[in-house]
Amino acid sequence: MKFLFSFTTMEKNTSVLDAINYRRSVRAYQKNEEIDAEIVKKCIQQATLAPNSSNMQLWEFHHITSDAILKKLTVACLGQSAAATAKQLVVVVVRKDLWKQRAKANLTHLNNLFGQKPKDSYSPREKFALNYYKKLMPFVYSDFLGIFGYIKYFISWITGLFKPTYRQIRNSDLRIVAHKSAGLAAQTFMLSMAEQGYDTCPMEGSDSIRIKKILNLPSGSEINMTISCGMRKPEGVYGERFRIPFDEVYKHW
Ligand SMILES: Cc1cc2nc3c(=O)[nH]c(=O)nc-3n(C[C@H](O)[C@H](O)[C@H](O)COP(=O)(O)O)c2cc1C
Repeated sequence: MKFLFSFTTMEKNTSVLDAINYRRSVRAYQKNEEIDAEIVKKCIQQATLAPNSSNMQLWEFHHITSDAILKKLTVACLGQSAAATAKQLVVVVVRKDLWKQRAKANLTHLNNLFGQKPKDSYSPREKFALNYYKKLMPFVYSDFLGIFGYIKYFISWITGLFKPTYRQIRNSDLRIVAHKSAGLAAQTFMLSMAEQGYDTCPMEGSDSIRIKKILNLPSGSEINMTISCGMRKPEGVYGERFRIPFDEVYKHW
């Protein structure tokens, strides 16, 4: 295992713990050290293996290597040095608007898995899985100007008086649901990059409307975060990690 607050570069981190310790938010990258776009792409592919709500995969990963777009995105990232010195950028985008396509993809996958057969020969587990994407996901995700969401929320609130009930049903709840999953994918990406000895910095300090415009994203999409990538300069890591004492955040029941 490497030293806990290692500043070394280029070495691969061979365990998850090594990658966790190695990953730091890097605000200045080496100018003369390139990173391999194919490896970054592989790390993005690994990010898509992150756990995500209902396996709806309401995300997209925009991998930017073009100098012209990097420049524009740096401005949209408020000129932060983490963006300005980056060799590549990855924008994690939430695509809640794609819920119908994603539910359908899951349904197609399940139909292929279970095979075509008479309705009554599906097992209870198979029926549950099919109904999950055929009925439950449309119920949860469909909305009209937020109104249907509030009606569903009211129904779940009443039901919740009598039994444990799923309550994350308003548009604002579902945005959080989608951003949680995208955040897990972002972290999976950053750890995969750390495994390769590559560096990253997650950024939310940005103008999301401008980023959407630059990447031609539809209005229903949302920027989760922009992740800069490169090889760290030692001074690009702002000192040793600070964390609140573990006892203050660890609650054992
Ligand atoms: C969602 C999110 C947004 C962040 N936005 C920024 C940012 O805009 N600029 C920046 O320099 N760092 C940003 N950071 C990095 C944090 O400041 C950093 O993770 C934190 O200080 C802990 O340091 P470490 O990542 O080196 O452990 C962000 C981190 C997260 C998770």
